[in-house]
Amino acid sequence: MITGITLREESFKQLRDFIYGQCGIFIPDTKKYLIEKRLSGRLQANELHDFDQYMEFLRGPRCHGEITFLIDAITTNETYFFREPDHFYIFLEHIVPDVLRRSGMRNINVWSSACSTGEEPYTLAMLVKEKCPGFKVSILGSDISNATIESARRGVYNSYSVRNAPEPYISRYFRHNCGGYELSPAIRECVRFININLVSDKKINFPIGMDVIFCRNVLIYFDLKSKRKAVSNLYDSLNPGGYLIIGKSEGLHDITRAFKPVIINNTLIYQRTM
Ligand SMILES: C[S@@+](CC[C@H](N)C(=O)[O-])C[C@H]1O[C@@H](n2cnc3c(N)ncnc32)[C@H](O)[C@@H]1O
Repeated sequence: MITGITLREESFKQLRDFIYGQCGIFIPDTKKYLIEKRLSGRLQANELHDFDQYMEFLRGPRCHGEITFLIDAITTNETYFFREPDHFYIFLEHIVPDVLRRSGMRNINVWSSACSTGEEPYTLAMLVKEKCPGFKVSILGSDISNATIESARRGVYNSYSVRNAPEPYISRYFRHNCGGYELSPAIRECVRFININLVSDKKINFPIGMDVIFCRNVLIYFDLKSKRKAVSNLYDSLNPGGYLIIGKSEGLHDITRAFKPVIINNTLIYQRTM
């Protein structure tokens, strides 16, 4: 990795605007170092000498493949199995019964948007397998980063990722070898993964008819405009009465009034109004 290449103020602003336009992530002045740190490897990979050249490259005709790498490098992909577990128990004990009762059907559609390397939708898949026999739960996982989606499809994790998973789930659904914790095919095949940019205007690949959407720990990276865009896109994907679950440190205050706040066991989730 190249170190010590400083990012001029003007190039920082240009790169920041470019990144914002691609994925809605807003990098404040105080996080200029983040671009330097995360993108210096891209200069090396493209044999470029400084960030001005990189910016030129991104605006040029061969930029498309590079934008994919840029997004992989700039996104923060922290996640793990059974993260913020209250949401999963609310999902099982309140949401699933409510959706099934209202629809009169035995199937439910769940979307784990911004799912990073897949721990969130796979946690759902394991819980559904254990606790919802007899129901068909279809689970979609998506992210803007192709690298995370490829990793999710592989389904191999390290000990950090599984550290909060209860022991019975580890022994039942993972094979532990020197390469890590390999998720069983029975769980892997429960989740379909695709690339979706939550702030897209064109809404490429956006699903419809969702009963529940998990969109946790991604809105924090957006400015207000991107948050509004993402939440409005998610609204359109939900069935009336469907649920939106965002991260525990996030809220829809200031973003929209189109969702009804619902508090269950002291945890705030949201429901699309009918
Ligand atoms: C911190 S991870 C959260 C993962 C998981 N939801 C959780 O709570 O553990 C945030 C994810 O959001 C994704 N992301 C960032 N901007 C996005 C966008 N515009 N559309 C879709 N996903 C995005 C990143 O690639 C990253 O994998």
